[in-house]
Parts: sequence; structure tokens; C-alpha cells
Amino acid sequence: MKKNIVLLPGDGIGQEVIQSAKQVLEALSEEYQHTFTYETHSIGGSAIDEHGTPLPEETISACHKADAVLLGAVGGPKWDQNPSHLRPEKGLLGIRKSLGLFANLRPVQGFDNLLHASPLKEEVVKDSDLLIVRELTGGLYFGTPSERSEDGESVVDTLAYERSEIERIVEKAFQAANIRRKHLTSVDKANVLESSKLWREVVEEKKADYPEVTVEHMLVDATAMKLITNPTYFDVIVTENMFGDILSDEASVLTGSLGMLPSASVREDSFGLYEPVHGSAPDIAGKGVANPLAMILSAALLLRHSFHLESEACLIESAVQHVLDEGYHTADLNIKDGQQVGTEKMTNLVIDY
Ligand code: NAI
Ligand code: MG
Repeated sequence: MKKNIVLLPGDGIGQEVIQSAKQVLEALSEEYQHTFTYETHSIGGSAIDEHGTPLPEETISACHKADAVLLGAVGGPKWDQNPSHLRPEKGLLGIRKSLGLFANLRPVQGFDNLLHASPLKEEVVKDSDLLIVRELTGGLYFGTPSERSEDGESVVDTLAYERSEIERIVEKAFQAANIRRKHLTSVDKANVLESSKLWREVVEEKKADYPEVTVEHMLVDATAMKLITNPTYFDVIVTENMFGDILSDEASVLTGSLGMLPSASVREDSFGLYEPVHGSAPDIAGKGVANPLAMILSAALLLRHSFHLESEACLIESAVQHVLDEGYHTADLNIKDGQQVGTEKMTNLVIDY
């Protein structure tokens, strides 16, 4: 199989972990005789420094031509005081929007050897295996007006959705639930928000197409509580942009570290952008200690969703499982026994499996 992958390392540890994912993909493609070619482009803070914009035109056009995109992370204190059009996150929001990636899939699965790395009780997190399907291109992060008044004393943000935007994300979630444990939880704030009422209507309509899927509606505050008191209750969660942003970070504590969580941003066809859930971790950037597993697991999602290479994806996931079972871990994982290793060693252990 011949494929072209665009790499967007971004900032901080993004630059380090993307190399790990590339090395794993290179080793794998050699073994399975695929030809993957890689093109690296800039985004985020490093793009601001080099090109004066967080999302250069050449990055956008390279992504549009690619078969799939791998992204590290963007941001850092260096750009925190920049005006809003020169913020690194603008690059990330912009590329997702430009590529029409409306669904963010975040699988959260506990690894046995990491159960005690979670601050939650082992018996609570054990066997948790859920998928958060977050709407990515609408809602509060994109609605207009979003501005501050001239006197600076009042502000407004807007939570806006079109029916069609809700339909396509809800459809993705039903599809995912249908091939998992067939339990879909649609999360909203329908007791307060008008947008949530339309959201519920759409979910109720779609139900008829998936008779085997059990559907329920849950308010976001109740969901936040249940997610850490009874995480095994959930199979697939679908929700709007900001609720999904918050719930998926909360769900990350189930696995013990942000450094373990991959994500896929997809649309109707098989194209996708794959990135770890974590940020650029400026506190540990450049030290060679970042956990590369979230990025490597994101590469596995790429193989599965964009290239339909299921056995290759599974091989990466088993390699990660195996390395953790052997007791190897990076500094972010609170594991008592075993051996602590850095980014490069962890990457090589996964490759050598
Ligand atoms: P963060 O995820 O970068 O870091 C939070 C904590 O987790 C830090 O202590 C960090 O060292 C640790 N951590 C994260 N990933 C790790 C890994 N792979 N291995 C080991 N430790 C890891 O979030 P934070 O600190 O809130 O944000 C830092 C910067 O990243 C900010 O500029 C923020 O805007 C940006 N950010 C970017 C995201 C993206 O590009 N998708 C997502 C979240 C934050
Ligand atoms: Mg977030």
C-alpha cells in the first residue's frame, strides 16, 4: 500500500513524540511492505515564529493533498500573550475546520498495568473501555458573535449548531456504538440550553436507524460525576464541542496519564487527523522524557481508520500493552515497580516487540 502522511510536529514535546510515531510507522511499513512517504509542515507557535501565522497556506494545502495527518501538539508560554489571531491554538482549530473534521474520537481504555497509576480506586477504573465522540467544528468555540465590547465591560460567546451538523456527529456515534457494546449516551444540558433541545430531537430521530443500540440522554453535570464514580457504565458518549473537550480530559484520569490517550479527528470519508490528547507539555519539553505512547497509539488509529490496516493497528496496540506489562514506563506514569525509561527508549521497546 502506498500512502502519503503529513507530519505536523507543532511545539514542545509535539516535536519529540511525532518522531516516535514516525519511527514506529517506518518499522511497521517495512515489515508489511507498505510505502509510506512523509512530509513535515509547520503549525502553531513554531509556524508563528517561522511564517508569522499559526497556520501557513502551504500547511493547509499539504494536508488537503495527504492521505492522513499526524499532529503533535501546539502552544506554549512563549506565545501566551499574543493577540488572538496569533495564538497557536488558532492553527489547530483552523486546520480541523479547513479539513472538515467534525468528529473527534477519543477512546479511553484502562491498561491493566496502569490501573494503580490512576488516582481513582483500582476497582472503579478496572475494565473501563469507552469512546467519547466529540463534535469538533461547531458549538461555543466557533459561534459568532464571540467578542468583547468596546468599553471592555461585557463579553459574549455563542453556542450555535445547525441541524445538519448535529445529524452527522450523531450518525458517527451511532455507527461506533453499533460495532461496540451498543450503548450510546448522548450528553447535553437540555434543562437550560436551547441547542441541547435540538440535539435531543436529532438523537431521538436517528434511533430508528439503529434498533440494536440502546440510547439515553444524560445531563453533562451528571455525566461528569458518573464518569469517575462508575466509568464502566459507559460505552459510547456523544456530545457537543466544549462538553466533549472537558469530559475527555476528565476521562483521561481513568488511564493514569494524559500521555496514554490518542485521538482521531475524522469526517465522512476515511481521511483523518490523528493526535494525542495531551498538549505541548512545556514543563518537560526538550528533556527526552515525554511519554510517546499517546502519539504512537494515535498512529495506530490512523492505520485503522484511514488506511483500513486493522492487523497493523492491532500490532502497535499489542506492542504498547506488552511493553507496559513488562513494567517499562515513562516518568508521567506512577508505577512503583519496573523500569523508568525516556522517550527514545520507550519508542525502541515498542518497535522491538
Ligand atoms: P499538557 O497536556 O501539555 O500538560 C499537562 C501536564 O501533563 C504537564 O505536567 C505535562 O508535563 C504532562 N504531560 C502531558 N503530556 C505528556 C506526555 N506525553 N508525557 C509526559 N507528561 C505529559 O497541558 P497544559 O500544560 O495545560 O498545556 C501546555 C500547552 O499545551 C499550552 O500552551 C496549551 O494551550 C497547549 N495544549 C495543546 C493541545 C493540543 O495541541 N492539542 C491540547 C492541550 C493543551
Ligand atoms: Mg482540551
